[in-house]
Amino acid sequence: MHLKLLYCTVLSLIYGLALGSPAISDSSALADLLESSDKFNDHSVVQAFVEELKAISHSSRNISKCDQCVARLAVGKSLALLRPDLVPPVFTQWCTETQYMSNSTCLSTFSRNTVKSSYTGTNFADMLTLMDPFGYDGQLYCCYKESACSKPKTPDVSLSHKWPAKQTKHKVAPVPSANDTFNVLHLSDFHIELDYTIGAEANCSASMCCTPHSKNTFANLTSHSHKDWNSYYDSHYEGNSLVKGSLIDVFKNDSIWSPATTFGHYECDAPEILINSSLDSIANFSSTNNIDFEFAIFTGDAVDHDELSLTSYEVTVNSEEAVFRDIKNKLGDVPVYSVLGNHDTFPYGELGQENHGFSNYFAWNAELMADLWEDYGWLGSDESQYARKHYTGFSVETSMGLKVISLNSNVWYKKNHYAYWNASQPDTFGQLDFLIDELVESESKDQRVWIIAHIPFSADALPLPAKLFAEVIERFSPYTIANIFFGHTHLDQFEILYSGPGGDAKTIENVVASSWISQAVTPWVENNPSWRYYSVDKKTFSIMNAYNYYTKLNETFTNNGSAPVWEFEYSSREGYNVTWPESAPLNATYWHKVASMVNESVEYNQVYENYAKRFSPYVPDCASTDDCALDYCYLTSFTVDQYDSCVENVKNNK
Ligand SMILES: *[C@@H]1O[C@H](CO)[C@@H](O)[C@H](O)[C@H]1NC(C)=O
Ligand SMILES: *[C@@H]1O[C@H](CO)[C@@H](O)[C@H](O)[C@H]1NC(C)=O
Ligand SMILES: *[C@@H]1O[C@H](CO)[C@@H](O)[C@H](O)[C@H]1NC(C)=O
Ligand SMILES: *[C@@H]1O[C@H](CO)[C@@H](O)[C@H](O)[C@H]1NC(C)=O
Ligand SMILES: *[C@@H]1O[C@H](CO)[C@@H](O)[C@H](O)[C@H]1NC(C)=O
Ligand SMILES: *[C@@H]1O[C@H](CO)[C@@H](O)[C@H](O)[C@H]1NC(C)=O
Ligand SMILES: *[C@@H]1O[C@H](CO)[C@@H](O)[C@H](O)[C@H]1NC(C)=O
Ligand SMILES: *[C@@H]1O[C@H](CO)[C@@H](O)[C@H](O)[C@H]1NC(C)=O
Ligand SMILES: *[C@@H]1O[C@H](CO)[C@@H](O)[C@H](O)[C@H]1NC(C)=O
Ligand SMILES: *[C@@H]1O[C@H](CO)[C@@H](O)[C@H](O)[C@H]1NC(C)=O
Ligand SMILES: *[C@@H]1O[C@H](CO)[C@@H](O)[C@H](O)[C@H]1NC(C)=O
Ligand SMILES: *[C@@H]1O[C@H](CO)[C@@H](O)[C@H](O)[C@H]1NC(C)=O
Repeated sequence: MHLKLLYCTVLSLIYGLALGSPAISDSSALADLLESSDKFNDHSVVQAFVEELKAISHSSRNISKCDQCVARLAVGKSLALLRPDLVPPVFTQWCTETQYMSNSTCLSTFSRNTVKSSYTGTNFADMLTLMDPFGYDGQLYCCYKESACSKPKTPDVSLSHKWPAKQTKHKVAPVPSANDTFNVLHLSDFHIELDYTIGAEANCSASMCCTPHSKNTFANLTSHSHKDWNSYYDSHYEGNSLVKGSLIDVFKNDSIWSPATTFGHYECDAPEILINSSLDSIANFSSTNNIDFEFAIFTGDAVDHDELSLTSYEVTVNSEEAVFRDIKNKLGDVPVYSVLGNHDTFPYGELGQENHGFSNYFAWNAELMADLWEDYGWLGSDESQYARKHYTGFSVETSMGLKVISLNSNVWYKKNHYAYWNASQPDTFGQLDFLIDELVESESKDQRVWIIAHIPFSADALPLPAKLFAEVIERFSPYTIANIFFGHTHLDQFEILYSGPGGDAKTIENVVASSWISQAVTPWVENNPSWRYYSVDKKTFSIMNAYNYYTKLNETFTNNGSAPVWEFEYSSREGYNVTWPESAPLNATYWHKVASMVNESVEYNQVYENYAKRFSPYVPDCASTDDCALDYCYLTSFTVDQYDSCVENVKNNK
């Protein structure tokens, strides 16, 4: 078929018809251009498409913001099918010239992929070639990626044909043994800042703080803010001991308001020395108290939050390697079961489906992780082989018989472009299939399972995967699924799943399951670094208690370069004064009781906030501000739709 004919057909099918009138007056001219296009006149093709995108929002057309976004996707798709390489220049130019977003966001969103910056224009073009702009895909994209459409109704699909009916014996959880426990360490969100720079601006108004490119445009620069701070350059850990570097005058530079000191700051990601300090505190804790960890879980995010223009492929790889190397060095023979987070990919947040043309962009990461985790002795060769082929996911059986299933949450991440095509179909990535197969197999053996992933489902997830995951969790709880673990929020939290339509009857009878959301080691943003371990029943793998440890980061600003002091923070069983049988695990019913107390009393809401941020100087005051108003919704929603409807109720009741 001639290019021109093809183009006009594509265009009338996906654009003209759907808008009711041929919105593109010059479609034939555009097609001419495309047909004759070669590298010498790409420029005129780009210009013509930029004008076309601009014309969509011309006031004479009076099209709603949502329809404009959809129409742009349609025009983009018509271009992507023939010249995907021109999608990035067209959209970048349109975006910057119309100031649709800030220039830096235009670049990171639409510029073509390079190894130097985490730009996603190539992934955007890939998505366009596969998506249906006028269906659920387009509405979803325009809702979550451009805030131009309201949230489309979540498709009414189910996975229930994939499993057998639940047997009676699997309708209750097994009873824990009396007092026979082992320990599991939970680490999360290290976010190593490789270019952390002592003396750089720690209270910045632009860019990532504590880096050479941090900027502060708002402070009163005639005086420094913290004269008593001190910092030692080149401090580092050698084995278990801190080697203190030399004192440097961080106040030399007059244009710095709050200079970054040795161990990190509340607006910065973690310098490697802080990561070493936290791992060292674990090793010291373990040896001083004779507490061994059977294994550890790491729920993701090794890479920092630096601007996408400065996040290169190399930084991503180096950060992943450094974090896992440091963990291995300090934890020795303790096996570590890990997931990747939304930052542990390149470009940021992206992941393509297997077998749909683009997954090979991401193969390097799965191969690197599979090799590394196998080399460190954390995975056997079969598990590593699976991880290599399936987004670093795997399932592993521990020596005690527990199954740990690791999932890659970019599959449901709302920033991942590849999650927006065929978005109304369940499971284009095939990951839920994997999960269900594993759960069915475990159930048939009466085996219990832990699930680990990075992003919880009520925030930053897409609504359909969240809903389907909740369906799977409900089916296999409480017998087979013993626990679920996430990271991502950097807050010490939990989330409860309730049964029933929408999960909105939040009663004790409706409690189905709950998840543990881990605190982070990175202080970003405004938290104290922290980690926890679980005391786990040997027979059932139910969690009997969780012990949380933290360091007051602000004490390191003025401590003459000494190592951070790590202390016990609180234990989950004792931390809320819930009446709960000593022999009962901290299951979803327990967390329901905690959530109810948070809902009913400002004092307990404050306790929750103190723990969430580990008593940092930035804990909001629940009594005098509105900052805690949505906590209960967060704790008692397991899916995006449940959270949204809860928030709406709170707002309507105001
Ligand atoms: C634009 O469309 C809206 C609703 O479709 C309508 O209310 C409004 O009058 C229109 N404005 C113009 C200038 O045509
Ligand atoms: C953004 O980019 C446009 C187009 O390249 C340019 O004209 C404009 O000056 C830039 N704006 C800012 C704030 O840098
Ligand atoms: C950071 O700067 C802002 C604006 O000047 C100021 O209000 C705030 O107190 C500063 N924070 C710290 C920790 O210095
Ligand atoms: C800035 O600092 C100087 C010196 O400390 C002080 O005199 C001045 O009032 C401050 N200005 C503002 C706007 O805070
Ligand atoms: C952190 O520890 C690793 C070894 O575990 C070491 O190679 C690295 O130099 C240490 N870095 C710092 C800053 O302490
Ligand atoms: C002082 O800090 C600014 C960044 O705020 C930086 O541009 C400048 O190079 C620094 N000056 C010196 C002497 O290090
Ligand atoms: C190790 O832990 C013990 C007690 O838990 C503590 O007293 C000691 O200071 C710690 N040592 C280091 C180097 O942190
Ligand atoms: C995408 O969805 C269509 C139906 O809407 C289906 O025919 C097709 O197989 C799906 N493709 C994939 C890869 O799931
Ligand atoms: C829990 O109970 C103890 C003893 O009654 C009390 O001292 C403590 O303040 C309570 N904790 C909370 C968070 O209310
Ligand atoms: C577990 O052991 C502790 C101390 O050894 C004891 O206080 C507690 O009552 C025991 N709990 C159960 C459920 O047996
Ligand atoms: C949690 O444990 C308690 C006490 O054993 C039990 O009554 C409750 O049914 C359990 N909750 C769930 C959701 O399994
Ligand atoms: C650190 O922050 C906590 C919480 O705001 C505060 O209680 C403590 O006094 C601070 N410590 C230092 C040394 O500033």
